Amino acid sequence: MEIQRNISLKPYNTFALEAKAAGFCTVSTVEEIQTLLAQEREQKKFPSLFILGGGSNILFTANVEALVVKIALKGTTILHETATTLDVEIAAGEEWDNAVQNAVTQNWGGLENLSLIPGSVGAAPVQNIGAYGVELQNVLVSVRGIMRSTGEKRELSCEECSFGYRDSIFKRDLREKFIITSVVLRLQKNPTTVSELSVSYGALAEEIERLFLGVRREDYTIQHVRSAVCSVRRSKLPNPAVIGNAGSFFKNPTVPHEIYNRIKSIYPEVPSFPVSENLVKIPAGWMIERCGWKGKRLMPQSDAAVHDKQALVLVNHGAATGEEILELSRQIQSSVQEHFGVALETEVNIF
Ligand code: EPU
Repeated sequence: MEIQRNISLKPYNTFALEAKAAGFCTVSTVEEIQTLLAQEREQKKFPSLFILGGGSNILFTANVEALVVKIALKGTTILHETATTLDVEIAAGEEWDNAVQNAVTQNWGGLENLSLIPGSVGAAPVQNIGAYGVELQNVLVSVRGIMRSTGEKRELSCEECSFGYRDSIFKRDLREKFIITSVVLRLQKNPTTVSELSVSYGALAEEIERLFLGVRREDYTIQHVRSAVCSVRRSKLPNPAVIGNAGSFFKNPTVPHEIYNRIKSIYPEVPSFPVSENLVKIPAGWMIERCGWKGKRLMPQSDAAVHDKQALVLVNHGAATGEEILELSRQIQSSVQEHFGVALETEVNIF
């Protein structure tokens, strides 16, 4: 396992921001991770380890003084099958969308709504990735990994992961304590009935109808769902290979009814999703757009900007720095706070 020094992280973050790593290495097996942890415990060559997946949810605002460990474990194994389901273990270093594509090709249902989400399989449980009415927790059986302090293997059940909206134990109690090496998912074999598909999210339902005019709702397949999800995402979300970005920059805030009612009295068209009796989720992208930010740059010459088709996504048009993106995000937070009285929390991890 070769450790390189002073490496550019630009190819390893989807914002395509320049930042240097004091050390960098790639690990491809559980044993390699255990060896590295033991070495670092004994020799302490770096102040800390920084575990890197696909780099699709990170904003680098400074150089990283740590040893950056790129997780490159690969492989998919079927662990268990019943007549209707199968449990598959997918290694953390696989690209998430390759895993989805593979499942859809084999006609294993459950992941199709999560098509085209950038990033690695190992990063998926950290923020409980979600899209179009489905979250990872709906299909996850367990997460396997290694405790950083001891090098011991540990498996957490779905319940032990304490999943919430873009949240999990890996962001809280196990933050910087656990390295995810694989996830175990329970998928549906040959899903054929519409009840096994999740097609109720408004934008998705419209896109399936538009793309597959003439196909009856009861005849939709997971292939139809994947195509429609890919199509909606491509129309709104920038491809990180073309324009640097990390998907949604903020979480959608949950607000009490009184705040929602106040906003609705001024903007009767405000979109909303009920969360509980007293709480409502309001799309942050809608508020950011209302504050006039859609398509705007931090300054006329800056490459730090708000995407012109989805105001929830901040983009790097080429030469933006992490500090510029961070400054833009702070200005957006102030404007939304001032205009709507709502605090926006970042979804992206800021370093
Ligand atoms: N909207 C606007 N203007 C905008 C953006 C959105 O008015 O610039 C409105 C839309 O018209 C719609 C509502 O806000 O009425 C919701 O928009 P959309 O369906 O695009 O979803 P979102 O709430 O902005 C969330 C997730 C996305 C996920 C989509 C679809 C979060 C933080 N983001 O976005 O996830 O793909 O729903 O399920 O929950 C990600 O996490 O990186 C991500 C892209």
